Amino acid sequence: MKEELKEIADLYYLKIMNPAAKVNIAWVKRKMDEIGMKDKSINKLYDINAPLSREVFYYIFLKFYEAKKIDILLNSLWEDAGSIPIERIGDKLKSLGIVYDGKFKRKIFNIVVLVSGRGTNLQAIIDAIKEGKINGRIAAVISNRRKAYALERAKKHGIEAIYLPARKGEERESYDRKLAGIIDKKNPDLIVLAGFLRILSPWFVKNYKWKIINIHPALLPSFAGLYGEDVHRAVLEYGCKVSGCTVHFVDEKVDHGPIIVQKCVEVKDDDSIETLAARVLEKEHESLVEAIKLLSEGKIKIEGRRVLRVQ
Ligand code: GRF
Repeated sequence: MKEELKEIADLYYLKIMNPAAKVNIAWVKRKMDEIGMKDKSINKLYDINAPLSREVFYYIFLKFYEAKKIDILLNSLWEDAGSIPIERIGDKLKSLGIVYDGKFKRKIFNIVVLVSGRGTNLQAIIDAIKEGKINGRIAAVISNRRKAYALERAKKHGIEAIYLPARKGEERESYDRKLAGIIDKKNPDLIVLAGFLRILSPWFVKNYKWKIINIHPALLPSFAGLYGEDVHRAVLEYGCKVSGCTVHFVDEKVDHGPIIVQKCVEVKDDDSIETLAARVLEKEHESLVEAIKLLSEGKIKIEGRRVLRVQ
């Protein structure tokens, strides 16, 4: 069981050992029945009026957590067993995807995706959310190009698709401020550049510090600043034996911020730009999902240029 979950369970276990506590096996069964959670083991324990041992209590926490209903259990315990020192468990709750604002709520990790093209990376995020690999939602997909197929993909999945054109000769920051006006309404935890072919202004980057990530189809710092097939052409012309992709935080320099995930592919003798691009693209999809998952679970910290995993 996750350490965070255990620690919260322990805090509550101390509370329910109080002889006046209402929380016992019948209470647990009633709570499970109320939300339609079926569990044979709990029913059996209820039938024999078993005590609520620490192990059983851990088991219950795990069941609720796995069913993504730990917030419901915590709210019920808060009502019936009393409060626990919330400041001590703030970080633990966060890593379990829970926020507390007078009530425990499952935090939805809100993602805004910026695109300009076909959107296969966007699709990978949509699929990962559907398959439950990422606990989050895409609040909006925004494109600077009307014809970006990514907008169609968003609509097909019921995601708000917004086209925001830049006026001819418009200053970068002026566009970015309009973009931010739309983004802020979505209250995002993360902004993903998934093939967004615009350089963001320093104002925008500062405004969303460590909240923007980008996917680049090469192993940074090599081949920074190149787009699309130019990257793969450059890799082949240089004679590299490996290539790959990089998911990184966005800072004020292009393709430069701290690296979150990188994956490699072999460059084969008979590779063309297309075959290499296709092999890298597969890795892009995996890497982007992996990075968003890590971020949404609060499992990374930034130390200088290094992005480290935290458990
Ligand atoms: C990807 O190769 C990505 O690395 C780059 O732009 C391309 C976007 O592809 N930044 P798609 O639109 O996600 O299919």
